[in-house]
Amino acid sequence: MASQELIKKLEETIENFPDFPIPGIQFKDISPVFLDPKLYEDVIADLVAFSKGKVDAVCGIESRGYLFGIAIAVALEVPFILIRKKGKLPPPIVSEKYDLEYGSAEIETREGQIKKGQRILIHDDLLATGGTTEAVARLVEKQGATVSQFSFLIGLKDLNGEEKLKPFNAEVYHILEY
Ligand code: PRP
Ligand code: MG
Repeated sequence: MASQELIKKLEETIENFPDFPIPGIQFKDISPVFLDPKLYEDVIADLVAFSKGKVDAVCGIESRGYLFGIAIAVALEVPFILIRKKGKLPPPIVSEKYDLEYGSAEIETREGQIKKGQRILIHDDLLATGGTTEAVARLVEKQGATVSQFSFLIGLKDLNGEEKLKPFNAEVYHILEY
């Protein structure tokens, strides 16, 4: 869906850092995208086009998933739900454990913000092993909502994250793939 021009511009902009934060990890630094408002706008427009008319709410994953997720939700005129790392939210919360590309973690959200029957877009900047996103999808389903779509800026092909998302039968989109 993304134009070749957008893909090329992003490839030139996102910086790769091998072996950060630990050996074997290829760290993609997206911070230069925010130095270029026009590029940011084009990224949002592309992600919005993917989800237009198809979702009732957006779940964004702390923290880099917030950088694009809120703008997507505002443009779609639907609620934005914060999926947070453990220990940041007052009760009552709902939570889910997951394995990370490096380490393990738990995500939480305020009870009642994901509504039964909603079609949800889960958005994050990056799909690596898929552990984080899969945990969010389980959380969404536990609330009686449906995972309709997943969107990412970047998908890391070699880590097979998309396999973990298959059971949810949702559309998956990423602008770039490495
Ligand atoms: C990174 C990235 C994704 C996740 C992908 O976040 O932003 O959220 O890892 O990994 P996975 O597919 O293997 O689960 P990180 O936990 O490093 O935190 P941050 O977004 O707060 O920087
Ligand atoms: Mg993250």
